[in-house]
Amino acid sequence: MRVLRLVIFGSPGAGKGTQAGRIAGRFGVPHIATGDLLREAVARGTELGVKARRYMERGELVPDEIVVGIVEERLRRPDCKKGFVLDGFPRTLAQAKALDEILEKLEIKIDAVINLETSEEEIVKRLSNRRVCKFCGAVYHLIFNPPKNSERCDRCGGELYQREDDREEVIKRRLQVYRMQTRPIIEYYQERGVLITVDGNRSIEEVSKSIGKLLEKLCT
Ligand code: AP5
Repeated sequence: MRVLRLVIFGSPGAGKGTQAGRIAGRFGVPHIATGDLLREAVARGTELGVKARRYMERGELVPDEIVVGIVEERLRRPDCKKGFVLDGFPRTLAQAKALDEILEKLEIKIDAVINLETSEEEIVKRLSNRRVCKFCGAVYHLIFNPPKNSERCDRCGGELYQREDDREEVIKRRLQVYRMQTRPIIEYYQERGVLITVDGNRSIEEVSKSIGKLLEKLCT
């Protein structure tokens, strides 16, 4: 199968993790989500996790130098030789430039940046009803993608919880940070001719189908 290197871009709650997980499963490549890597570090209480926590609980971005280091280390692992789906990175212009430098060192290129455009009204609905498995990380939505039992994971039976940053006031701040610091990167990738925008307001299946068609074209 062709090597696939993708960035899934979009605002908080746009559906990046949901779609990135599906693509990674379909193409057999790692799903690299900086939010997940940072939450793991926080849960383990590492030095990096302690630093990151302060920013994450306020809905602010973790400093570029911390995140860029984590991503570079992850992209150098052997499983990324067959490709990867990056989710939640880059999120600032400095991170986009740092990613270009990492890719240049590794002598590889990104195939596409898929931008999920989702309205803020829809995002608030999605984030306030999201539930995540404490054990395996599976993501549910109490209305749009409900687990059979609202407290347990269908996949592994683990306890479901609401993310700390899915509280209303933190969601507002995350959206503000997205508008100010992250959204401007769209232009950066547009200029490089790799940006593909997808309407993220539709159902999980519909968005997934659209992305599937785009990837088929990209891979032929
Ligand atoms: P991160 O974990 O990346 O959070 P985020 O970008 O805010 O994105 P989310 O995980 O909230 O949403 P998503 O787009 O993945 O949506 P999902 O598929 O889950 O980052 C968290 C924090 O870490 C940041 O605030 C920052 O502090 C730090 N951080 C991370 N990366 C960083 C970086 N590069 N630089 C600096 N700091 C960084 O879907 C949401 C919900 O909607 C789910 O319940 C899902 O089931 C449902 N859903 C999904 N798609 C649909 C659909 N089409 N229709 C209906 N429901 C849907």
